[in-house]
Amino acid sequence: MNNNAHAPIGLFDSGIGGLTVANAILEQLPNESLIYFGDTAHLPYGDKSADTIRYFTKTIGSFLLSKECKIIVIACNTASSVAFDMLENMAGDKAYVFNVIDAVVDEIIRKKYKKVGVIGTLGTINSNAYKTKIKKKDADVEVQQLATPLLAPMIESGFVDGQISHLVIEEYLNSPELQDIETLILACTHYPLIKKEIEAFYAAKNKKVDVLATNEIVAAQIKRFMIEHGLVNYEKKGKSAFYVSDYTESFAKTTQLFFKESVDLIHLPLFK
Ligand code: DGL
Repeated sequence: MNNNAHAPIGLFDSGIGGLTVANAILEQLPNESLIYFGDTAHLPYGDKSADTIRYFTKTIGSFLLSKECKIIVIACNTASSVAFDMLENMAGDKAYVFNVIDAVVDEIIRKKYKKVGVIGTLGTINSNAYKTKIKKKDADVEVQQLATPLLAPMIESGFVDGQISHLVIEEYLNSPELQDIETLILACTHYPLIKKEIEAFYAAKNKKVDVLATNEIVAAQIKRFMIEHGLVNYEKKGKSAFYVSDYTESFAKTTQLFFKESVDLIHLPLFK
């Protein structure tokens, strides 16, 4: 394994949504250097086939391995659902690979939730990845799932915390599937941006539903793992690089929404 604490952490997503994971990692591990790849040429992943997502993951995984990352994080629920095993095999003993699902599943079991709701892209929901992994650990947990395909493009277009997002969120959360739940998993790396709106929706209805955003839970899991394995960079702050497979001004602008500060995107046409 690459146990060099000074090596970077690699992350990728279909676009810039995974920056919520990058942000959470840097908040918890401020000295790390990140190599982020947003596959903006191919987004959204949510409605692509599993085979196509595995093909994209293979190419991006090779790139991140070539950068000698100590850890690779699949910062996308859709790719985590269908391509994690493949990437873990591919990385072999070169890097530790994390998805954004397992840490959340562990949290559900640890907190002993019995009625769980999951919202995510069509790809994530149709894969049943959360349901299968939760049921494998505790068959008594009821898992209700709902695909919410409007949310990621809505967030990416900047419709957050306004009339349009309130309406769309309300329409989805009022679905019969999600009525009898104790916790709601936001199974898409875009959704931390609407976590407060979702919490406000439940508060207004006087309903107690714990809303779980995957980014912070995954960052905490990675931090624990890195401490246990001596992988934390305790020295000076590392430099991060942010690559995209297709560059547009609008992606560059939107990074601020997801990362809380502006990011210099580097165009890297990996698939040519
Ligand atoms: N960020 C992706 C995820 O977590 C969703 C966006 C997309 O459909 O590409 O699933």
